[in-house]
Amino acid sequence: MFDPELLEAARAVRNHAYAPYSGYKVGAALRDGRGRIFVGCNVENISYGGTICAERHAIGAMVAAGGTSMTALAVATLDGGAPCGLCLQSIAEFAGSDLPIALVDQGGEVVIGELREFLPRSFASHAVARAPE
Ligand code: THU
Repeated sequence: MFDPELLEAARAVRNHAYAPYSGYKVGAALRDGRGRIFVGCNVENISYGGTICAERHAIGAMVAAGGTSMTALAVATLDGGAPCGLCLQSIAEFAGSDLPIALVDQGGEVVIGELREFLPRSFASHAVARAPE
């Protein structure tokens, strides 16, 4: 069974989403390496491109509080939508490929997977800055 507190936190914060343009509200809740829960919701912008997704919002909250890793993530949407590619790469920055991810829809239906299924070949390490030879 998936962490019920995390599922509930994702569903609760979804109510705070600011999504006047798409109408698609997203809530995300993660547990960090110290067991703390951090939440985020999507915050849209009239420029569209300035929109921040719920998952990256939650990750930002964790990092701002000194968190460096995550052990589980729950995402709440209308229809059980998965995190976008940009968010998946941000999740991969702070989690292993075995990170459990739960998608919960408005009716409470939960689908569980691991990060490796959502992002089978994450971009990794190649971009680490190296001193010129
Ligand atoms: N959205 C998220 O919050 N997370 C995702 O992973 C994908 C999309 C938001 C962005 C936008 O406000 C709305 O969902 C519709 O794309």
